[in-house]
Formats: sequence, C-alpha cells, structure tokens
Amino acid sequence: MHVFVTGGTGLIGSAVVAELLGNGHTVVALARSDASALALKSAGAEPFRGDLADLDALRTGAAQADGVIHLAFGNDFSSPGALARAVAEESSALATVGEELLNSDRPLVTVSGTPPVPGRLSTEADPLPTDGPVGGRSRTVMAVLNLASRGVRSSAVRMPRTVHNEGKGGFAGMLTGIARRTRVSGYPADGTQRWPAVHALDAAVLFRLVLELAPAGTCWHAVGDEGDAVRDIAAVIGRRLGLPVETVPQDTYGPLGPIFATDQPASSTRTRETLGWEPTHLSLLEDLENIQP
Ligand SMILES: NC(=O)c1ccc[n+]([C@@H]2O[C@H](COP(=O)([O-])OP(=O)(O)OC[C@H]3O[C@@H](n4cnc5c(N)ncnc54)[C@H](OP(=O)(O)O)[C@@H]3O)[C@@H](O)[C@H]2O)c1
Repeated sequence: MHVFVTGGTGLIGSAVVAELLGNGHTVVALARSDASALALKSAGAEPFRGDLADLDALRTGAAQADGVIHLAFGNDFSSPGALARAVAEESSALATVGEELLNSDRPLVTVSGTPPVPGRLSTEADPLPTDGPVGGRSRTVMAVLNLASRGVRSSAVRMPRTVHNEGKGGFAGMLTGIARRTRVSGYPADGTQRWPAVHALDAAVLFRLVLELAPAGTCWHAVGDEGDAVRDIAAVIGRRLGLPVETVPQDTYGPLGPIFATDQPASSTRTRETLGWEPTHLSLLEDLENIQP
C-alpha cells in the first residue's frame, strides 16, 4: 500500500514508518519542518510538507494514498488551553482526511488511549471516556469510527499510558523529565495505580496489522504490559537517577494530574487473538533500566 502517515517523526510514528517500509509498503509522511523532512527522508519515506492546521496538505496527502495512519498530536500539556487547542486542531485535521476517503473503502487508522474502567482491565469493547482533559480526543476518535458507515475502513489503535523505547516516551517519560527537574522521582496518590505500557516497536507492528486487516469501525489495544504500578515505575526512575522516590501532589502534573492518579490497567487479549499480534520487545520496567543519569 501507498500510505500517508502523520506524526511519522515521533516516538511511535518513526517505528510505524520503519515497520511499513520493512513490510513492502511505501510511505508519504507529513513534515512540518526541514528537520522533520530530513529525518523522514533518511528513514526512507517521502516527506510531504505541511502541518495539522494545513487542511489542503492533508486533503492532498490523503487523496494520493491507499490508506492513512494518523499519529501527529501537539502533545502540549502545559495548560488546559494549550491542550484544548491541540485537541481542536486534531479534530479538524481528521475530519478533513476522513472526508477525502469517503466511499473509497480505504483504511484510516487513528490513535487514542486505552480507557480506564474501575476495578478491572479495560478491553477493546469498553467505550472511551468523553469527559476529562482529553475527552475531546475521544469524540474525535468516535467521529472517525463512525465513518465506517460512509465507506471508510476506519479504525483506532488505543495506546497504553506509556509507549516507550530505550527508556524514553509516554507518561513514564514525563515522570523521568519531572524527576530530573525537581530532583525527586515522584508519583501521585499512593502509587498503586497501574498504567499499561507497550514498546514502540511492538505498537508499530500492530498499526501495520490494523492498516492491512482491520474491519471498518473497530478498536484495538496496543497493550504489552497490562498494568505497571506507578510507584514501581518511579522506583526504577529514582534508582537510575539516584533520586529519592516519594509521593507528590497531583497538581505537579498540571492538567494530566487526574489521569496520572487513575488506576487504568488494560488488556489486549482480543487484539492478540484476532490479529495475531504478539509483543516481543522489553517491558516498561525493563526498558526504564536504559535511563542514563
Ligand atoms: N507515547 C505514548 O506513550 C502515547 C500514549 C498514548 C497515546 N499516544 C498518542 O500517540 C500519538 C503519537 O505519540 P508519540 O509519543 O509518537 O508522539 P511524539 O513523539 O510527541 O511525536 C509527535 C509527532 O507529531 C508531529 N506533530 C506534532 N504536532 C504537529 C502538527 N501541528 N502538525 C504536524 N505534525 C505534528 C511531530 O512532528 P515533529 O517531529 O515535526 O515535531 C511528531 O512527528 C499521539 O497522538 C499521542 O497522543 C502516545
């Protein structure tokens, strides 16, 4: 397939680009800077200049492709306003791409998070929460999935809280960054809340399988570890950085505080059984041993 990818220079996207190219697909990838264009070219993809706000570029990129994988996101969690702007930008971008693919049966694979379900592992059948700081992203994903009834083979790959590679990435990566700045490896609440995780190279395989195989309107879980206690994550970070490990106030994490404090383990049983996906790379706690002081 000739695949249009957004976010192809990111932690997950760069692994997805490599996975696609290694499995006989060609890739055109959105590039919003010279540096990103160069990185994509070196990876073997064709850069396509534009950003998520450039709806003409998105329309053209999608029109020329056999399928689209969307991974770009502003990831600006510095304030509720910045987060809301990133959510709105992604929503318009995906509406534009989706419209271009109507009545074509071409795949549109988007990304979201695994939902929290009190007291048990969440599954692919659980709905995404539409409240909270990233509830708008869930509504965007639902709009994409609804395109299934309008001739788009739309699907969503739900990512766990931490997608990691070489000890970096995701919410665990944010904990590491905050620990370096504050000189404390902190965690909110009592730290027994669990976050699921996956290695980026395993997640990339799932994106390819979903692009190739997923029926329209379906959700999948890229879950490698079902749930690592946040205290255990902070303990590895603290040991690697030589810092004390302590509980800290939830507002240390700004708009993400409530999400950081939530117990949200998740399962990928249906994804593994249906698509034959099997993670093979390091678990999060193993990968965090790559953190360098
Ligand atoms: N990492 C995780 O643990 C995790 C967990 C759950 C969900 N997710 C979601 O998965 C997706 C990818 O995550 P990631 O960790 O790979 O992100 P990342 O490493 O921060 O990369 C973000 C990508 O999006 C691009 N981008 C950002 N804003 C853009 C804009 N306005 N226009 C065009 N491109 C833009 C970046 O391009 P540049 O290289 O030019 O900056 C980069 O390629 C995101 O939607 C994220 O929310 C990630």
